[in-house]
Amino acid sequence: MSSTLTKRKPAAKKSSKQKTTAKRTGKKPAARTAPTAKSKLYASLVVQLLSLLKGEYDLTANAANFSALLFNSLPNVNWAGFYFLRGEELVLGPFQGNPACVRIPMGKGVCGVAAQQCETIIVPNVHEFPGHIACDVASNSEIVVPLFDGERLLGVLDLDSPLIGRFDDQDAEGLNELVTVFVGHEEGLINDHG
Ligand code: SME
Repeated sequence: MSSTLTKRKPAAKKSSKQKTTAKRTGKKPAARTAPTAKSKLYASLVVQLLSLLKGEYDLTANAANFSALLFNSLPNVNWAGFYFLRGEELVLGPFQGNPACVRIPMGKGVCGVAAQQCETIIVPNVHEFPGHIACDVASNSEIVVPLFDGERLLGVLDLDSPLIGRFDDQDAEGLNELVTVFVGHEEGLINDHG
């Protein structure tokens, strides 16, 4: 399994003590790396997501718009959507793409493994992932990002692509930032639904 997986820990919430600027030493600061096209795209998606969420606190509506934003903005994505934790299994939430399996037990498929291990999982080739659940035959790679309210698992965000190796660490970082914005906004409401 390890050859097909790239795991990343979910983005941690910033502690109030965490500083946002690095301490300067006497040395010349290192040159900044220029933002890539992908990091610029994710930065623009954060702005668009915040605008979509503004003043609206309905979880279903916001998750639907979030999935539509991702589906229509990220190139080579054929499925983007949510599975929310309901008891011991993940249940399909708002999404864009072909109809998908409704219930995924914890530990099953890429979604169930990401949820159980509480880690973002990048699968470069889904056909090499043991237990992968094929909802769309066009899908060849996948990324799954867990959603947390503090320590509590709420569900996962799942994206599929027809391209092998479509998702990388920049996608993981960008999507983690987006779900952090989303969950931060939805916090109170998710508690009511969960
Ligand atoms: N491939 C996923 C199932 C969900 S669909 O891709 C939408 C999995 O293995 O968990």
